[in-house]
Amino acid sequence: MNTVYIFQPSDYLINYYGFMVEQLDTSCEISGIRGIKEFAKSDDELMDKIISSRLTVVGYELPGARRILDLIVGSGQPISVVITFKDELSLEEYKRSQAYCSNIELFSYTASPFNFSRSVEKLFKYKSRRDGNSDKYMQVKIEHCLLFEEACADIFLCLGNHKYIKIFRRFDSYTLGDVKKYMNKGTEFFYVKSNDYNTFIQQVLRLKFGQAEFLLSQNSDSALVPTKCHEAVFEMINSIGLDENCVKITGQALNKTMELIEKSSLTSLLAELLQKNSYISEHSMMVSFLAGGICRHTDWYSHENLMRLTMASFFHDLKCSDEVVAKVSVINNTVLKELDLTQQTMLHAHIQDGLDLVLQIGGIPTGVDKILLAHHEKYDGSGFPHELDYKQLEPLSAIFIIAHELVDIFYEVGFYRDNIFVVLQDMKNTYSGGHFPRVVEGLIMALSAQTYFEDKNGSSNRN
Ligand SMILES: [Fe+2]
Ligand SMILES: [Fe+2]
Repeated sequence: MNTVYIFQPSDYLINYYGFMVEQLDTSCEISGIRGIKEFAKSDDELMDKIISSRLTVVGYELPGARRILDLIVGSGQPISVVITFKDELSLEEYKRSQAYCSNIELFSYTASPFNFSRSVEKLFKYKSRRDGNSDKYMQVKIEHCLLFEEACADIFLCLGNHKYIKIFRRFDSYTLGDVKKYMNKGTEFFYVKSNDYNTFIQQVLRLKFGQAEFLLSQNSDSALVPTKCHEAVFEMINSIGLDENCVKITGQALNKTMELIEKSSLTSLLAELLQKNSYISEHSMMVSFLAGGICRHTDWYSHENLMRLTMASFFHDLKCSDEVVAKVSVINNTVLKELDLTQQTMLHAHIQDGLDLVLQIGGIPTGVDKILLAHHEKYDGSGFPHELDYKQLEPLSAIFIIAHELVDIFYEVGFYRDNIFVVLQDMKNTYSGGHFPRVVEGLIMALSAQTYFEDKNGSSNRN
């Protein structure tokens, strides 16, 4: 399977092309052929050998080369082939007579050897993709299927033990109810074949970015505007990577968040977000509003610091594509036991990965990096990665940590006035060192909690 056949009219050319292939992968077994008759007694034998090879390089000037090429093209098999020509003229002549095939590359001996290497590299990738992925199933979030009314790919359900059944055929129409039926049974993921994954994810991104752009154009003051932008950016970053559109939407989402923090009621922004639809985006925006709200009620309030906290909140878990990992707040043996190796790696890596992402975007104010790096540290030094405690944590990090902790609590116990009162009382008692007491005071003011303390006998539900 790892054999590379090199059909050439001279040993010199066999060595020349063989050498270049070996530079790209030393594990290849190079087999040079000058006489086709000695190589295979029949066309069938010839094709069997070529089909099972990793790559075939055919010198067009070798007697019998055209027969090999006719057999390869006629077979319709995706065999990886480089056809080499003595000069550009014969290459052009051949090109005019043949239809384009993505598995066949052409190279002229007079061109730069670099072009040959590039062609081989492309074919190696093409082959390993075909060999390795053609039967693989890729996980897609079930919520993504709610975006469509027609399947843009065959959609499968995993029955466990690598068994999959097709539930929607490509171009099948379906209703939200058809998808929700599976969601209600606790299904979190559907699957698509790996060669459909790109198409599927492109459709998801098109719709998510469309939704975000539509909401931005509506000039609405809903907390869902930056949240939908976050969802779109999150999907993009974790499937395809950063692009210009992604950077543009991020900028618009940050501006909208700042605007909402400055002019809207914090409690109504938070209440609007606790929908438990898309945890990573919703909790990131809640941290943003809460951290911004706290900052506005402290001596550290400035437009720049508000921007730093807004950015850190937006980016802090963007590289944490697994919701289970994003929900981890402390690391201990019990928590680690619940996570598989990939999740454990992501838990540790998402902190630096988030920072690397921010650096790629550029134009980020100094100080955002420190908040990102400390977003899992704790007041008492029980956090990670550096086990910093209240004495070492800077004011903006302290604000972020408190905001994040409170958002986690909202998710656990709901956004209720009595719960908030108990939590604030607890924070007031516990966080007595470093910058934390001033942060808790800011939090109490941000939530107008003085009233809660005064009315603590009342128990109306604020949600
Ligand atoms: Fe988070
Ligand atoms: Fe995180």
